[in-house]
Amino acid sequence: MSYKFESNKDFSEQLDHEDILSEFRNKFYLPENTIYMDGNSLGLQPKEAEKSVNRVIKEWKEYAIKGWMSGDKPWFYLPEEIGKKCARIVGADENEVILTGSTTVNIHSMISTFYTPQGRRTKILADELNFPSDIYALKGQILMKGLDPEKELILIKSENGRYLDEHKIVESMTNEVALIFLPSVLFRSGQLLDMKYLIQEAHKKGILIGFDCCHSAGVIPHQFDEWNLDFAVFCSYKYMNGGPGSTAFLYINKTHFDKKPLLSGWYGCEKTKQFDMNIEFEHAQNAGGWQISTQGLLSAAPVETALDIILDAGMDKIREKSKKITSYLAYLIDFYLSKPPYHFKIGTPLDPEKRSGHIAIEHETEAVRIGKALLDNKIIPDFRPPNIIRIAPAPLYNTYLETWKVVQTLKKIIDTKEYENYSKERGTVS
Ligand SMILES: Cc1ncc(COP(=O)(O)O)c(C=O)c1O
Repeated sequence: MSYKFESNKDFSEQLDHEDILSEFRNKFYLPENTIYMDGNSLGLQPKEAEKSVNRVIKEWKEYAIKGWMSGDKPWFYLPEEIGKKCARIVGADENEVILTGSTTVNIHSMISTFYTPQGRRTKILADELNFPSDIYALKGQILMKGLDPEKELILIKSENGRYLDEHKIVESMTNEVALIFLPSVLFRSGQLLDMKYLIQEAHKKGILIGFDCCHSAGVIPHQFDEWNLDFAVFCSYKYMNGGPGSTAFLYINKTHFDKKPLLSGWYGCEKTKQFDMNIEFEHAQNAGGWQISTQGLLSAAPVETALDIILDAGMDKIREKSKKITSYLAYLIDFYLSKPPYHFKIGTPLDPEKRSGHIAIEHETEAVRIGKALLDNKIIPDFRPPNIIRIAPAPLYNTYLETWKVVQTLKKIIDTKEYENYSKERGTVS
C-alpha cells in the first residue's frame, strides 16, 4: 500500500480525523504536556490497569491465602487465563501460551528444552543484531551443555549493521545446526523478519526454530500455529502495555508438550497434582508446564486489562494504523530532515510490510545530544548506541499531529543548534 501524505500541519489533523483507532487514546494515561514516543520500550498505563491491581490488593486484604482459589478470578488460574487471551493475539491455541517469568528467563527455559545437541547437529544459529540478553542466554545454555559458545553459536552477520538478509539466514541453516533462535524484529532498526518463510525453511532442513517477539507482540499480527512455529517468548511491557517489568509470555507449539521443561519448578506441575507435593516432577501437558515459580499477582493483573484493549481494537486495525503512522513519520523525516543542515537518515526499512512499530532515525554525530534536547522539549523517544533515536508512534495512543510535532521539534533543535547545550555523554538508562 502506498500512502499520499502532505507535509503541512493541517494534513496531520486530517489524518487524526480519519484515524480508525482514535477512540483508544482515551483509554490510557498520557504524561502531561508530553509527547510520548517510547511505547516500543514501555507502553503507557491503561486507565483500567489501576482497577485490576486494586482488585488484587483488595482480594489479598479480604481473602489472604484463600485468594488463590476465591473471588472472580482465582489467582491459581490467572496465568493460564491471561495466556488464553494472549493466544488469540498471537494466533495460537489457548493452552499454548502462558503468562510467566521474564523474557530472558523464558529464553533460558525454552533453549534448555529445545537445544539438544546430537552427533553433527550441535550448533545454535542466531544473529549479531539480536538484543544482547538473548545472546548472553544462548551462550549460557551452550556452556551448560558442556560445549564452547565460540564454536557452537553461529551469529549471522549484517552487511550494514542495520538489517539481516533472510536468504543469508537460510544459507546458514546447515546440517550442523540443532536450533535457530532469532528476533521477529531487530530492536534497533525495527526490521521485521519474514517469520513464516524462515520457519518453513528451517523445518525443510529438520531444524527447530524459535523467536523473540518482544518488538512485534501487540503491534504485528502473528499466526504462530498456522506457521507451525516451535516456540516464542515475548514481554508484555512494550506494545502490550502490561506495566514496567510486567510478567512475560511464552508460546510452545502443542506438538512439543511432551518435551521436558529443564528449568523445572513446581508451578509447571499438572495443576490438579501440584499440591500432591510429589518429588517426581510431572509437568502439565501444555504451555503451563514451563512455569517455574509462584506468579507475582501484582505484576500479572494489569496485563489482563492491557490485553483486553488490544483484543477490543483488533490486531489487524492496530497493524493498519501502525503501518500508516510510521509511514507518515518516515515521510516527514525525509521531507524536513534528510538534507543539510539536518543530515538525518532513516535506519528502518521503508517498506511498511518489512518493519515493526518504530522508526530509527540516525544522526552520525549528534544523536545523543539531539535525544537529550528532545527530552527537554517534552518529547520522549529513546536512544540506542551508537547513533540511533528510536521514535515509536504507538497505534493505540499516539496521534498524527504528535508525529508532525516531533519532526518540527527535531527541525527546531537543529535550526537553533539547541543540541549544543548538552554533553555527549549517554545517560545510564536511555
Ligand atoms: C528484544 C528483547 N529481548 C529481550 C529483552 C529482555 O527482556 P527482559 O529484561 O524482560 O528479560 C528485551 C528488553 O527490552 C528486548 O527488547
